[in-house]
Amino acid sequence: MFAFAPYGSYWRDLRKIVTLELLSNRRIQLLSHVRVSEVGASIKELYKRWTGSSSHFQVELNQWFEKEGRRCLSAIKEFIHLLGKFVPSDAIPGIGWLDLGGYEKAMKKTAKDLDYILSECHNLGYDCRRHRYQHVYPYVVNISIELLNNFHVLTKAQEELDVHVGKDRFVKESDLGKLVYIPAIIKETLRLHSPAPLLLPHEFTEDCIIAGFHISKGTRLMTNLWKIHTDRSIWTDLLEFKPERFLTTHKYVELRGNHYEFIPFGSGRRICPGISFGLRLLHFTLATFQHPFEISSPIGAPVNMPETFGVTNLKSTLLQVLVKPRLPSNLYTK
Ligand code: HEM
Repeated sequence: MFAFAPYGSYWRDLRKIVTLELLSNRRIQLLSHVRVSEVGASIKELYKRWTGSSSHFQVELNQWFEKEGRRCLSAIKEFIHLLGKFVPSDAIPGIGWLDLGGYEKAMKKTAKDLDYILSECHNLGYDCRRHRYQHVYPYVVNISIELLNNFHVLTKAQEELDVHVGKDRFVKESDLGKLVYIPAIIKETLRLHSPAPLLLPHEFTEDCIIAGFHISKGTRLMTNLWKIHTDRSIWTDLLEFKPERFLTTHKYVELRGNHYEFIPFGSGRRICPGISFGLRLLHFTLATFQHPFEISSPIGAPVNMPETFGVTNLKSTLLQVLVKPRLPSNLYTK
């Protein structure tokens, strides 16, 4: 929640605690076994649905990723949905008491739901780790759609996994460092389908002049990532899904906010502190899912990608895929 706190000592203290205690490389490493068992269990559950015939079976990916922690997830989804709403009283504060559209009432209910869930976690010593993963799983769905629509990319990713991991075991986190194509797929998806297409709202704390424009203190800045990530002066074949660009022409472009032409995690002081954790989980989940299954689209045509309007970018319709195991059966049942 400190993402919504203004810059100051409260934000600074929380950010320090979270960065050092929750999202540091050491903590991410210490919790590796949780990721491995969660992702491994999901793969095995998926395999159980396969009847053993030679054909593919159909899976709805959003539901598969979301099946756990559904209640928590729906409260978080509602929170994110409300966060991205333009409420009339934002523009005309005087009419706030009318609560046009009932948004304030809905916000109060969501706040109560989230408070309840968090205090329940605390009281019962409940395992919230899964819920932390929900943050990035919808994004794996977005990446999967890029892959379904670009079959050659999927094939190339599987070839890379076959070379570095082989076909007689599943992916381990220690394999991730050897992969170059899957990181490029993730970068290309973050370019074309950034999860936070407007970053978060920033506010100027003092008057200043930028590029000759006078900006008054208190002005809100919404950053249009889509515009930046499809800037003609930087990118060629703007709308094409080409992970190869990050291995050739744009090899130098990294993700940590130092190259302003590509800032899916933001940049500067308020840059996302979950970069390492988010990327580790994305790489691992995607590699672990792609390696043991053949994946294709049931409609045999490009999958539509309508996105929700709001502060985070989610696919607004369900994603059906056909899945078929491609590794020796004893691996899935170990
Ligand atoms: C692919 C995964 C992710 C992406 C693309 C992403 C992207 C972003 C973006 C764009 C911002 C706003 C930056 C700005 O406005 O300048 C942000 C902020 C933030 N993110 Fe992430 N994020 C991801 C994963 C995570 C994860 C896994 C966590 C924690 C578990 C996390 C925690 C936060 C927090 C706490 C902030 C607010 C930081 C502050 O205000 O100082 N993010 N993220």
